[in-house]
Amino acid sequence: MSYIEVKNLSKIYGTGELEVKALDDVSFDIDQGEFVIILGASGAGKSTLLNILGGMDNSTKGDYIIADKNVAKYNEKELGNFRRDDIGFVFQFYNLLNNLTALENVEIAASIVKNPLDSNELLNDVGLGKRKNNFPPQLSGGEQQRVSIARAIVKNPKLLLCDEPTGALDSKTGESIIKLLYSISIKYKTTVVIVTHNATLAKIGTRLIRIADGRIIENKTQPRLENLDNIKW
Ligand SMILES: Nc1ncnc2c1ncn2[C@@H]1O[C@H](COP(=O)(O)OP(=O)(O)OP(=O)(O)O)[C@@H](O)[C@H]1O
Ligand SMILES: [Mg+2]
Repeated sequence: MSYIEVKNLSKIYGTGELEVKALDDVSFDIDQGEFVIILGASGAGKSTLLNILGGMDNSTKGDYIIADKNVAKYNEKELGNFRRDDIGFVFQFYNLLNNLTALENVEIAASIVKNPLDSNELLNDVGLGKRKNNFPPQLSGGEQQRVSIARAIVKNPKLLLCDEPTGALDSKTGESIIKLLYSISIKYKTTVVIVTHNATLAKIGTRLIRIADGRIIENKTQPRLENLDNIKW
């Protein structure tokens, strides 16, 4: 049995002529500690899938099992606990609280779980040790994304989900964010899923899943790269 099993998952929006099959019978497994890249064009169903994996949306059909629990069968309260305790989420546009400092943004996330990691250490890990008392509007986009990564990891989540984490950044900053996600996932043994349309990231997944029109068209494992220095960005 794998750590995560997604079985025959479908998501249909709307009814009748307006029906959209955002996910169509999607199945895959993920082992603990994998660094998964899900690649697909705009509209392929990436965010739909990630939102279901994060307990932010439910599927129309199918099962989603993580650590032997079937999240697809959870009620609203169980889903809330799941989102709070088990999921770290990194969004394209950071979603930080602008009236709290970087450190306070991370501490808030730490305060809602039972066994958080150390907020200060996490901010050091993401390279912001010296800027932790800055407010988000005083930080660059790349720095804000670093805070949001610290905020996600401080919960020590079962699963870290990233929706186009470099989508709002220039390519050089984006590269540094991906390298950070890669190294931090190794340090904290975090299982990571990144969805993106950026084909450069294909090579760095220990698992690469391609989706098109809500269906999986490729799913393969790849050796873990020792570092990302030889990737052509
Ligand atoms: N709430 C919704 N109601 C109706 N249709 C939706 C809804 N959310 C998504 N869809 C549709 O489902 C399909 C998949 O959308 P999704 O947002 O998952 O794509 P995506 O791969 O994340 O695209 P992008 O790269 O542009 O973010 C699209 O056709 C979209 O229009
Ligand atoms: Mg999307």
